[in-house]
Amino acid sequence: MATKSIVILGIESSCDETAAAVMRNDLLLSNIIAGQETIHHYFGGVVPELASRAHQQKIIPVVAEALNVAKVTKNDLDAIAFTRGPGLMGALLVGVSFAKSMALALEIPLIEVNHMQGHVLAHFIRKNEHPKPNNENNTSVPHRTPTFPFLCLTVSGGHTQIIRVNDYLDMKILGETQDDAAGEAFDKAAKVMGLPYPGGILIDKLASGGNERAYRFPHPQSPGYNFSFSGLKTAFLNFIRGNVEADPDFINKNKHDICASYQKTIADILINKLTIAAMDTGISEIAISGGVSANSGLRKALHEAGVKNGWNTFVAPPEFCTDNAAMISIAGYYKYLNKEFTNQRITPLARMPF
Ligand code: KG4
Ligand code: ZN
Repeated sequence: MATKSIVILGIESSCDETAAAVMRNDLLLSNIIAGQETIHHYFGGVVPELASRAHQQKIIPVVAEALNVAKVTKNDLDAIAFTRGPGLMGALLVGVSFAKSMALALEIPLIEVNHMQGHVLAHFIRKNEHPKPNNENNTSVPHRTPTFPFLCLTVSGGHTQIIRVNDYLDMKILGETQDDAAGEAFDKAAKVMGLPYPGGILIDKLASGGNERAYRFPHPQSPGYNFSFSGLKTAFLNFIRGNVEADPDFINKNKHDICASYQKTIADILINKLTIAAMDTGISEIAISGGVSANSGLRKALHEAGVKNGWNTFVAPPEFCTDNAAMISIAGYYKYLNKEFTNQRITPLARMPF
């Protein structure tokens, strides 16, 4: 007997991307993202009040486009999944309120998703209906997913976590940052170098062609599988200040080497802890997720560690690493199968453990 196909609309509004995506089971039908870079650019970081106002303006067109591209109507939807948290309260409120109203109007179930669990489940999004690797006209990538249990290093603008993933909806945080997140370490360094927000991707671009051994930065120590990036950030600030004092053109002359060395330091800190967690747990299925997992230095470091340690490693396509609603839809799909629905009394959570 053929199983019923489930069509889920996912909505993401936790920070500065207004996003909506439609999936049929685990197959992605549309993935629409409206960024807000131009709004926050001037301030050098996300301004919460401006973010929530922009979400209000964008949410209806973004959802409409997601349905349109997916070639479904709102009446085809079986459920609506939304990011309940963690994130900016005002930004979350827009997505949560919109999802609640739409589910109420359509009389369909509502599914809450933890944004960080969404990042992990991004590895299960299927992009192509019929991957045929042997057909030379077919450019689709075969769907390769981690098997349970796996470890997932989830690195974003606000979080840095090593998660043991026992099943789609059974995850345990083994360790996390005690201060700044890896994404913040990238973004703040970029700011110190005079680069615009969000600077992580710009550091990544400048790092290519640079010498990653040109400069040495400290590897802050933290207990267990936890991380700390605030010391590294301060060390970077002092390094730049000291050198610019001696030579005002220091950044411009050495930007490739500075970015390559700094990126390598962050990647090493992350992969070292991940290696310890892999050894202790005996798990050799290893994934990375979240915005920073798009970083080419981290992806390379993971690959090298995988070869050295005999891991199966998994990186998601870059569009599923940074914030998106496809990851919310896929999480919604597995929750739908588990009948994990919520109700109209649900409210956003700026901090949301799992
Ligand atoms: O997951 P995400 O899109 O949003 C949050 O949930 O925070 O992550 C955003 C973070 C930002 O700090 C951004 O600078 C960083 O991911 N990022 C990168 C790259 N692409 C995004 N950092 C380094 N290299 C990249 N290529
Ligand atoms: Zn995120």
